[in-house]
This record gives sequence, structure tokens and C-alpha cells, in this order.
Amino acid sequence: MLGGARLAGAVPVAGAKNSALKLMAAALLAPGTTLLERVPAILDVEIMAELLRRLGADVAGTGPGQLRIEVPQQIGHQADYDLVRRMRASISVLGPLVARVGRAQVALPGGDAIGSRGVDLHLAGLEQLGATLAHEHGYIVARAPRGLAGANIWLDFPSVGATENLLMAAVLARGTTVIDNAAREPEICDLAQMLSAMGAKIDGVGTSTLEVIGVDHLEPTHHTTVADRIVAGTWAIGAVMTHGDITVLGAVPAHLELVLDKLTQAGADVDRVGGTGGTDGPDGPDTGFRVRMAHRPRAVDVVTLPWPGFPTDLQPMVIALNSVAEGAAMVTENVFESRFMFVNEMVRLGASIRTDGHHAVVRGQSRLSGAPVRATDIRAGAGLVLAGLVADGVTTVGQAFHVDRGYPGFDAQLRELGADVRRVPDPYEVGQE
Ligand code: EPZ
Repeated sequence: MLGGARLAGAVPVAGAKNSALKLMAAALLAPGTTLLERVPAILDVEIMAELLRRLGADVAGTGPGQLRIEVPQQIGHQADYDLVRRMRASISVLGPLVARVGRAQVALPGGDAIGSRGVDLHLAGLEQLGATLAHEHGYIVARAPRGLAGANIWLDFPSVGATENLLMAAVLARGTTVIDNAAREPEICDLAQMLSAMGAKIDGVGTSTLEVIGVDHLEPTHHTTVADRIVAGTWAIGAVMTHGDITVLGAVPAHLELVLDKLTQAGADVDRVGGTGGTDGPDGPDTGFRVRMAHRPRAVDVVTLPWPGFPTDLQPMVIALNSVAEGAAMVTENVFESRFMFVNEMVRLGASIRTDGHHAVVRGQSRLSGAPVRATDIRAGAGLVLAGLVADGVTTVGQAFHVDRGYPGFDAQLRELGADVRRVPDPYEVGQE
């Protein structure tokens, strides 16, 4: 991409990657036809669809953003190594399979460029629900031949994945389960709403304490995925960095309160658009927010935390923003221990960033200079793209397949907003995460 563009216009936001993948896994809990809407057109959805097919389901796209998932009475129980290697979120089938089939064999997901990504909390919770667990030849093997029994589970950390897996296991367990210190991200609420529509009995949605009364069976449902707040936040930060004016449509402002407040602190004008503009108002296609920026942003301090704190997934973008802002700021990463890996790539563009453990001190530069850089994960890649939009000259972001995993049609949308960006042959070996 060639730096110097000013992003301006309206951009629609698709459904959340970090919800849609779990909603697809939840379909395994109920034989029959589940219909999902607003599913993002990204590689990870294709990988999850393939995983469900190998378990015996029929998964078909039935229109823009629509998936029809036909789940038979009898389903398999193994998630293949190559699929889990390609996508860590495959671990989300563990809970549904143990609950529905009484056993599951899921390859142990590795770590990645942002950290170890353990699953100990998932496994400890399943054991408390009565599953026996073993590690066999690189697989997690979970067995519950007599079904699962409700338990009081306390998560050491409000893990998003562990909360989702345990919620999807508990809904079919005998008796009552309490998940304490549960994650409360909007994607968790989205999953809980779908499970409730399927017949699950869940109290405390949106709080740190989820209470689930197990039921004998669930019915398939028709559910629309919540808007992707991380993609929406990426556009908001892009508007600020390029002194632009972007209206983000279909987003839920209430899911980005802290982020939009930070951008206001940086000097942006942020207005709600359409709809009720209220809290969790329906995220219809005309709701959202508008971000305008007329001058260089002021640097803003950010501390990432589980919801409702600043989302770790927007940390790379706020580091990119601070790299061209007025002044200096500290960004503290509390969720993933290696999420500063991408800082080295930002330094190639002339950013002045010092990291020390969980902290990064960013000193804003008046100009960045374009260079070849490499995306190390989805969000780092998006952060580097935003930095490239404001760097002098040409920036090439290698391994852009990372970005494609989270941002459907990103380059086309950027061009529509005025960016000079195009795809070129990837200078790096195109691997598979
Ligand atoms: C989900 O990952 C998201 N991925 C991540 O988004 C997001 O950053 C993260 O939640 C936090 O919001 C998907 O939903 C597919 P965690 P997840 O369990 O579930 C440690 C993106 O770019 N941990 O809340 O893996 C873990 O190592 C991705 O879209 C354990 O130690 O996040 C990490 O340090 C990146 N043991 C921290 O907790 C466990 O059993 C947060 O993990 C579970 C987690």
C-alpha cells in the first residue's frame, strides 16, 4: 500500500469471527437444521465448516452470510490434527462433543505468535463436570460415558474459550452448573442467547457468574451473529490515524464504549448513528457510529483486560495509532504474554517503541516510512496495514493470509474508503497457521 490516504466513507461490519465459530460448534448440540446469519466470509469459517463435515454434519452456504448446518442424530467425535493446527478455535467443539456424544478427541491446539494459549482451564472444568481426560498421541481425549453432571466451576482467569466450552458442555449436563469468574465478552452473550433459543436454561448472561440448569436435549435454532466489534474498532482507529471520516455500519456502539472513549481522548469526534444508539440495541444495518478526525491524534495510554476492559485484540492497532500520535503513551498488555511480537515489525516502519514485559512505551513520530513487514497474527497484520496507510512511500505486508482470517474483503473495503492498496505476490512462504 502507498501511504498518505485519508479514509472516508461508510463501511458495513460483518458478524464476529470470535462468535460465529462457536455458534457453529454449538450447532452440534442439537440434531436437525441450524441456520446462522451474518457469518463472516473468512477462512476460519471454512475450516470450522470442514471440521463439522468430518464429524458428520452437512454445512452449506445458503446466501450472503448464511450457513445451514444439518446435524445428524449420530455424529463423530474426533477433530483432526491438521484442522486444529490450522485453527486454534477448533478446540470449541470439545465441550459440545463431550456433552452430546459422551466422548471427544481433539488435537491439542498449539500456541501461536501471541502466546502459549493454554487449555488447562477448559480441561479442568470438564473434569469437574465428570469427564475423564487423557493426552494420547497429541490428542486430548475426553470421555463421559455416563454423561456429564453439573458442578460449581471457578475459572482462575475469565477465559473466553474455557467459558464457551464449559457453557456448551453444561447445557446438557444433569443438574445445575455454576461457572464463576466467567468471561463476559459480547461474543459469550451471543453464544448464550443462541443456546437459550435452543432450549438451554442459562442465568447470569453478561455477568461473571453463569448458572446453567441442564436439560435432556436441545433443538436447533435460527440465529444471527453479533457484529464484529474488533473489525469495527479497527475501522474507527483507521479513521483517526488517517485524519479521516468513517461511518461504521451494523456495529454495536455499546460493545466499544471504552475504545471510542479512548479515541475521543485522542481528539476524535465520535457520534452514534441510527438505531437506538443505546446500550445493546439491535445492531441493525443502519446502526453504528461515525468517527471523524481533523488533525494529528494525541497519544493515549491503554491497558488491555478481559471485558469490559480494553480488548487485547485492538492492542496492535492502538500501538499503531500511538506511533503517529502527538506525545508518548504506555500500552499495557495483560491478556497474552507475547502480543508485542509485532512491535519489531512496527519499528521497521520507523516507530519508536520500547517494550519491557507487559508494557510498551510508544513515542509518536510525525512520519513513518514505508517498508516490507510481516504479519505475525490476524490483529498484528491489521495494525501493520493501518500503519502502512500513514507511512511515507510503499509498505508491503507479507503473510497477509493472517489478516484475511479476520477481515473479510479488507483490501477492497480499504480501496472503497480511498486507500491506495493492492495485493501482490507474498514475499513470504504462505504457510497455514
Ligand atoms: C479468544 O481467544 C479470541 N479467539 C481471541 O481473539 C481473544 O484475543 C481472546 O479470546 C481474549 O479476548 C477466539 O475467540 C477464536 P482466552 P481464547 O481463553 O479463547 C490463557 C483474534 O485475534 N488461558 O480468554 O484463546 C491464554 O493463554 C483472537 O481474534 C490459559 O492459560 O482466549 C491467554 O493468555 C486472538 N488456559 C489468556 O488466558 C486456558 O485454559 C486469554 O485466553 C485458557 C486460556
